[in-house]
Amino acid sequence: MSNTSSDQRKRVLSGMRPTGKLHLGNYMGALYNWVRLQHEYECYFFIADWHALTTDYADPSKIPGNIKDVALDFLAAGLDPEACTIFVQSKVPQHAELHLLLSMITPLSWLERVPTYKDQQEQLKEKDLATYGFLGYPLLQSADILLYQPDFVPVGQDQVAHVELTREVTRRFNQFYQGKAGDILPEPKVLLTPSPKLPGTDGRKMSKSYGNTILLSDPEPVIRQKLKPMVTDPARVRRTDPGNPDVCPVFDLHKVFSSAEVQLQAREGCTTASIGCIQCKGWVADAVVAALAPVQERRAKYETDPGLVTEILEAGNLKAAVRAEVTMREARVAVGLGG
Ligand code: TRP
Ligand code: SF4
Repeated sequence: MSNTSSDQRKRVLSGMRPTGKLHLGNYMGALYNWVRLQHEYECYFFIADWHALTTDYADPSKIPGNIKDVALDFLAAGLDPEACTIFVQSKVPQHAELHLLLSMITPLSWLERVPTYKDQQEQLKEKDLATYGFLGYPLLQSADILLYQPDFVPVGQDQVAHVELTREVTRRFNQFYQGKAGDILPEPKVLLTPSPKLPGTDGRKMSKSYGNTILLSDPEPVIRQKLKPMVTDPARVRRTDPGNPDVCPVFDLHKVFSSAEVQLQAREGCTTASIGCIQCKGWVADAVVAALAPVQERRAKYETDPGLVTEILEAGNLKAAVRAEVTMREARVAVGLGG
């Protein structure tokens, strides 16, 4: 399906910071949904490299490699450049331009009260995030979104406040400025995508900062090796103790990746102590390996052809810029700078 300006489908936009190789949590929380959405909507998906700079400005050395890894993982996960537009934020300078225009009308207090502002400063204590750029993080995100005039923004719960801010900024922009046909910026809606509970190997939420991840690109032996010591029902101390799958993080992975039959087998085996945790984890590993097989097959194909990945991004950057410019042309006129 092609993605032309005559596309009548509703539009979707979402982005991800280039954090490096993606893990199962990134996959189930976002990418997996995006892959589904690309066939239903006119989709724009991008790598938010300027957002990475808001926290990593002191050492940007990892950013280029991370962009490449995330691009590979987008394609490996099944984003199809024929079906959606994949691009890199900083290659579409209209994002920075709209951010600047929005900054004129956005009260500081709106940004200061976004929960992630204080939370992240607390959590990333080793970084100085008392910067202009970091305060503006959610407003840059608003610009990312509004440039494409999307109907929906698929995000997880942690990003809802940012889309809410975007909606407020949209209303304020529309109060001050109008286009020939009325509002220039439509209020985007959150598309809350399902994100199943996905624990890491230590039982906490899977997250790069906890070092408990399974990467989309981990080879089978690494997946098995990482799952072997995974935290289980802490009450199941001996092999002969029955366990409770409902409090076991391994079972949370079964729920996401294993068939109904395997889940039932694991539940029965666990509660009757007829299987050990090692066996149970082996079954989960089988399911994860099977789910990742097509992803890794695609990744291998793209890895052998880095020129192709570059080409895909360049084509996406161009398509995104064309769409972004449609909005910017109207926005410039509206703020009196159209000449
Ligand atoms: N802030 C988002 C995150 O950390 C990434 C992001 C940047 C984004 N711009 C966006 C998501 C626009 C959706 C829409 O995950
Ligand atoms: Fe968890 Fe499986 Fe062990 Fe039960 S058998 S405690 S579900 S790992």
